[in-house]
Amino acid sequence: MLVPDGVRDVHPGHRAEYVADPRPRPMGAGTELAGRRRDGTTFPAEISLSAIDTDQGILVSAAVRDVTARRLAAETAAQLASIIQSSHDAVIGKTLDQVITSWNPGAERLYGYPAAEMLGRHIEVLIPVPDREREAEVLTAVARGERVEQYQTRRLRKDGTTVDVSLTLSPIADRAGTIVGVATVARDVTERQRAEARFRGLLEAAPDAMVCVDSCGKIALVNAQAERLFGYHRDGLVGQQVEILVPDGVRDAHPGHRAGYVADPRPRPMGADIQLTGRRRDGTTFPAEVSLSAIDTDDGILVTAVVRDVTERMEILAERERLRTQAERDRLERQLHQSRRLESLGQLAGGVAHDFNNLLGVISNYASFVGDEVAKEAPDGRWQAVRDDIKQIQQAAERAAGLTHQLLAFARQEVIQPRVLNINDVVESVEQLLVRTLGEHVELITDLAGDLLPVLADPGQIEQVLVNLAVNARDAMPGGGKLTIQTANTDIDEAAAAQAELTVGRYVALKVSDTGTGIPKDVVDRVFDPFFTTKPKGEGSGLGLATVYGIITQAGGHVRIYSEPGMGTILTALLPVTGKAPDAKAPPPAQPRRGHGETVLVVEDEAAMREVTRRILARNGYHVVATPSGREALSALSRHLDHIDVLLTDVVMPHMQGRELADKVRILQPAARVVFMSGYTQGLLGAQGVLAPGVHLIEKPFSETILLAKLHEILTTQS
Ligand SMILES: Nc1ncnc2c1ncn2[C@@H]1O[C@H](COP(=O)(O)OP(=O)(O)OP(=O)(O)O)[C@@H](O)[C@H]1O
Ligand SMILES: [Mg+2]
Repeated sequence: MLVPDGVRDVHPGHRAEYVADPRPRPMGAGTELAGRRRDGTTFPAEISLSAIDTDQGILVSAAVRDVTARRLAAETAAQLASIIQSSHDAVIGKTLDQVITSWNPGAERLYGYPAAEMLGRHIEVLIPVPDREREAEVLTAVARGERVEQYQTRRLRKDGTTVDVSLTLSPIADRAGTIVGVATVARDVTERQRAEARFRGLLEAAPDAMVCVDSCGKIALVNAQAERLFGYHRDGLVGQQVEILVPDGVRDAHPGHRAGYVADPRPRPMGADIQLTGRRRDGTTFPAEVSLSAIDTDDGILVTAVVRDVTERMEILAERERLRTQAERDRLERQLHQSRRLESLGQLAGGVAHDFNNLLGVISNYASFVGDEVAKEAPDGRWQAVRDDIKQIQQAAERAAGLTHQLLAFARQEVIQPRVLNINDVVESVEQLLVRTLGEHVELITDLAGDLLPVLADPGQIEQVLVNLAVNARDAMPGGGKLTIQTANTDIDEAAAAQAELTVGRYVALKVSDTGTGIPKDVVDRVFDPFFTTKPKGEGSGLGLATVYGIITQAGGHVRIYSEPGMGTILTALLPVTGKAPDAKAPPPAQPRRGHGETVLVVEDEAAMREVTRRILARNGYHVVATPSGREALSALSRHLDHIDVLLTDVVMPHMQGRELADKVRILQPAARVVFMSGYTQGLLGAQGVLAPGVHLIEKPFSETILLAKLHEILTTQS
């Protein structure tokens, strides 16, 4: 019943055999014996038999031992042995006297000796002479019961070469716990060391500081650049928390960032958009750029931080920014300076033109008086030569008047009649004239925006702008070329407005470009100056661009010129878009007529001008009272003049300006019409150069016809 079922049947046979020859002996040599428990389970058994002769015959006693544990131990030992057999590492057992007791195939592979050759031999054959002493110390430690891990050393191979190995040594104890030997596991680390050396080489060759940090934030490796950058020796860095390289203020937050990176270790620049800072050993800091990458190693993730000191770059950036703002400031200053200069030149030019206009008025009108007299006295051509001379005087005076007009336009003091107009219409109306002006060598190209918005400007002035620019372009293209006139709507935003001293809004851009000589850099700042010309004496007056400047700025716009010497010139005029509805066409000028005894009070401080005006009116049927000042005009009105039809007054006069006088006269003579005479519109015009409604102005110098036409016009229209 104690025998398992499978062998129960043969057991009585065995039993009989034993009894036949009952020497004490272990049972079942060579076969596995097993016992059967009551519950039917079995166990491996070792059984020894002995027979005792008793009165009742032979009694066989069987000593049964359960050998489960021993069997297991044997199995484990066999497994371990096969693991050792198949291990890639060299596993060697040796006595404390260094005699080799076991040698696995890994050892054979690593060292080149077969087991048969090494078993029983002293381990010394494997140890290079210089390492032996050190090795003995290690062994002593193991003999004391210590375990030594990752002991880096060298071994000699059978072929005489050396191999770098990492050893783990552990004591072998006997059943009683006495240390009797040493087990050594050796791993070839040549490859790994080579890889490590390569890595280190790369690290050192990198131009930037590199700090390798393990997953706990401990610095594992640094290069020489990192030592230099942070001011530490590498021994002071390796093994420290990487936070020592982070400034105090952000140190606490750093482990969090670090964990965040390790959780998702893609290579990336650190702290994009924020300024990173590194901390040197002496506590000073520097702006840093850091990029991170991670490598998986045997010891876990190793994060490599490439740290670059960007102090210099930041300084360069700051310097560049400083230079840029400086340049911008200089540019604005120059621009301001330029517009102030043009402003004061304008005042000067306007003043000169004013005085000059009076003189021209006198010259041309007296010339025409003389001409009339001569014609009356000698109508049959006897004085023809004199009449021709007079005509020359008049023509010269007209040309001079043209110049003063240009000056006044530059000074923004010309009387203008702005209308709501489409610049395209003006361009089209002068196109033929321009083609003739340019000559056949120059091609005119127009590129006009179809949806161009209206502006408020004097069409005659815009024509003048186009003609002046076309003439300049023609002069700049003696060998021929192209002149392009473009129009477009454009928005001026805040930045552009600040640059051009304009208000933000919609503008019409009129762009005139040529393919001519261009303008040298040292000249371009002065081209808007009146009388600035590079042309030979007598060819250019230097008023063309000055006029353009005055006209456009008077209309609330802006002009800029851009030129590339050798390539050409682009002039861009910006005019503000108007919200006003288009005007009806201006009425044709009224025909000049004589007066019918109407009383005209003339006030003019310049004697010659006063006299000319008086004579023109007197000989054309008007009753004239001429006075040199406002005060005298008022006193005449209060003393002997009880009625006037027209007050014809100069604008700029000493003591009392024309406007003040007009206000006073209107009180005394509410029905009187007021006409101002001036070439100089200061104080009379609004900001846009427009006359107040009901105010009439006659430009100096004026001819007889013009004065008469004006008077007729205001006397026949209802006020
Ligand atoms: N399109 C251009 N290409 C090259 N240079 C130009 C151009 N426009 C003007 N300039 C330069 O600017 C100067 C001044 O021009 P501006 O029109 O004011 O006077 P001007 O042409 O010399 O004389 P004016 O026009 O009074 O007859 C010219 O003398 C010339 O040197
Ligand atoms: Mg010109």
